[in-house]
Amino acid sequence: MSNPFVGRSVSVINDLSIEERKYLFEKTRILKHAYTSSDEAILEQFRINNRDVGIYEVFLEDSTRTRESFRNAAAFHGVKVSDLAADTSSFNKGESYADTFNTLAGYANNIFIIRSKLEGVCTWLDEATTAYAQRNNLKRLPSFINAGDGKHEHPTQELLDEFTFLEDNGFRTDHLHLALVGDLYHGRTVHSKADGLTLFDSVEVDLIAPPELMMPEHYLAKMKENGYTVRLFDSIEEYLGQDHIASKWYFTRPQLERMGERILKNQQSLRKKVSWTGKYDFRLPEGTKFYHPLPRHRIHPTIPTEVDNTSLNGYERQSINGMYVRITLLAMLAGKIGEDYTGLVSVAENQDKEEYIVNVTSPQQEAPGTSQRVSEGVNPIRNGIVIDHIGKGESPSTIRRSMALIIKVLNLADERGGEWVSTSNSAEGAYKGIIFRPGVNEFSRKELKRLAAVAAGCTLNVIKEGKIEAKYRTHLPPRIYNFDDLSCRNDACISHPDHNEGVPARFMRTRENRYVCAYCHTEHNYQEIWR
Ligand code: CP
Repeated sequence: MSNPFVGRSVSVINDLSIEERKYLFEKTRILKHAYTSSDEAILEQFRINNRDVGIYEVFLEDSTRTRESFRNAAAFHGVKVSDLAADTSSFNKGESYADTFNTLAGYANNIFIIRSKLEGVCTWLDEATTAYAQRNNLKRLPSFINAGDGKHEHPTQELLDEFTFLEDNGFRTDHLHLALVGDLYHGRTVHSKADGLTLFDSVEVDLIAPPELMMPEHYLAKMKENGYTVRLFDSIEEYLGQDHIASKWYFTRPQLERMGERILKNQQSLRKKVSWTGKYDFRLPEGTKFYHPLPRHRIHPTIPTEVDNTSLNGYERQSINGMYVRITLLAMLAGKIGEDYTGLVSVAENQDKEEYIVNVTSPQQEAPGTSQRVSEGVNPIRNGIVIDHIGKGESPSTIRRSMALIIKVLNLADERGGEWVSTSNSAEGAYKGIIFRPGVNEFSRKELKRLAAVAAGCTLNVIKEGKIEAKYRTHLPPRIYNFDDLSCRNDACISHPDHNEGVPARFMRTRENRYVCAYCHTEHNYQEIWR
């Protein structure tokens, strides 16, 4: 029987489906019970104990909990565990991520745990190093686990958070009411919650942070899209001034040092808004628990140490759960457990086969420019192609940039013809672009797809003997990739050209017709993805 988890990577929480996460939590529950009751027979069912499995930790940013819980999880499994000394590695000679991890994979390592400032690094390495493993016939395909990438995600923290919420919910997934408090802007652990909390059937999220530390708009939008009820509060004090208070509070550490002088000047008042004090206790519902991914700041903790000895303390058990959850995850990725899993497997990317090029040929139509209402500067052609309605409604300069891109990607620069910015016949006062190429008589399906990628919403007319022989309208493609001119705008993204990692940009369309980067998930509008 094949194991659905072997060779998989966990770059974002959505790389595991809800059912896969439920499977992981159920196994973790069994493991934790066996561990605390020293049930060796059960523990042996989890232990990888396989000399072919090599785990590599690569931490390019500081860590205690994530690095050490994975190291101790690996020790439980009795497998080889290594740690790259990044400061003295060939990273410092300008080596790329792909070359570094390909090299490590070649030395019989197959599970990589990476913390980096670069966002989307595990998604990229999953592609690059899997290809390396295949061309070199390596015994095992690699898995990459994101241990925190910039401001993006921290999926294994999300797993241990969810497991701890479940423990405190009696393992029920019908409802969760959670307050998120602190630095919701920088905190990758709270960003993973935008998708992670879909584990629960109904979710209420109360975001408690002043505007300077509030959740970025696209994570807020994602929470709403996922059906969560979301409320915003400026401070704990304001939150406690109303009646519907969550019994689970998730605090994060304000990362004010990342926010410049203006914010630092106000740091005392910002911290006060998101820090707990004992004087608030009387407002909390019975059974309330506090959580925190930790570390907390020793001088400015958002949860003061006085809380440690109270029933509010959920964060110490949460931290301990990190090792159990990570033991289970490693057992799954190494193929020790998972063969009994029968649920849905996560499909990370939208692989829609939807039609985004529509044939709108009508036998009566005349070629553009032959009717009475002729666009400015346009002369009729008898044979060739006319690309019309380019960038309709945009400014003339945007339309000219679009036309230049079309000409470049379709190799139309050396052909006869011309291009104009004209006013639309159908939309009063709106500009549009038109490209004429009398010499071009063929247009392949591949070229049509390229046209749709660079100019959605335009029409392509193929003209023979003064009549439109075929007419196509382009719509936004579900995925856009394989163009030199594409670029993610997030300068922390592994695919950003400044990093020179050779990562080809790739985008997926959202339900709102925006494009998210396949690596860092930054949203762009259609124009923004083109350099
Ligand atoms: N929660 C967490 O990621 O902690 P570390 O930075 O210590 O790994």
